[in-house]
Amino acid sequence: MVPVRVRPLSPSDAHALQRILANSGSTPGVPVWSESEIAEILASHRGWGLEDDFGLGAFILVQNLPIAWEILHLATDPRVRRKGYMAELLAAVIAARESGKEVWLEVHEANQPARQLYEKMGFRNVGRRSAYYADGGAAVLYNLG
Ligand SMILES: CC(C)(COP(=O)(O)OP(=O)(O)OC[C@H]1O[C@@H](n2cnc3c(N)ncnc32)[C@H](O)[C@@H]1OP(=O)(O)O)[C@@H](O)C(=O)NCCC(=O)NCCS
Repeated sequence: MVPVRVRPLSPSDAHALQRILANSGSTPGVPVWSESEIAEILASHRGWGLEDDFGLGAFILVQNLPIAWEILHLATDPRVRRKGYMAELLAAVIAARESGKEVWLEVHEANQPARQLYEKMGFRNVGRRSAYYADGGAAVLYNLG
């Protein structure tokens, strides 16, 4: 992998995140937020990004709950997918959580790339919410202890 750096995000990164989402096109269950919505999320939640020499390649947004970090969203720019960017960033975020906190997330049942990623990183499938998304798809719930 080319040299990359993990760093915390701030609201000034909203444009770069919005570009990653716009480049990503439509993915089942994945929100399409505007730049101002992303800036608001970054102002009140935690975010980390992975940069290479061309800029931000991947990001993760997290909500800090009393007993867990809940992943709100994550994405890798299509220009650098399947290069290990998200595996590296997710490992760094998992390692940064406070001792004793779990990591929670939900994903559309049809989102196989994301589900393979979570299972590779050690997340356990702990539940399912039927007809959760607008297209009628179920949400699959994953936890990491
Ligand atoms: C899911 C996503 C974040 C993966 O990012 P990435 O940087 O390409 O992932 P990595 O290269 O770090 O891959 C890590 C592992 O994830 C899994 N994976 C990633 N992309 C995959 C694909 N297209 N098909 C199957 N497994 C995949 C594999 O297990 C992979 O390990 P391997 O390469 O050793 O087989 C990326 O495809 C993406 O941004 N998707 C759109 C947004 C999205 O779906 N977010 C999740 C919302 S819950």
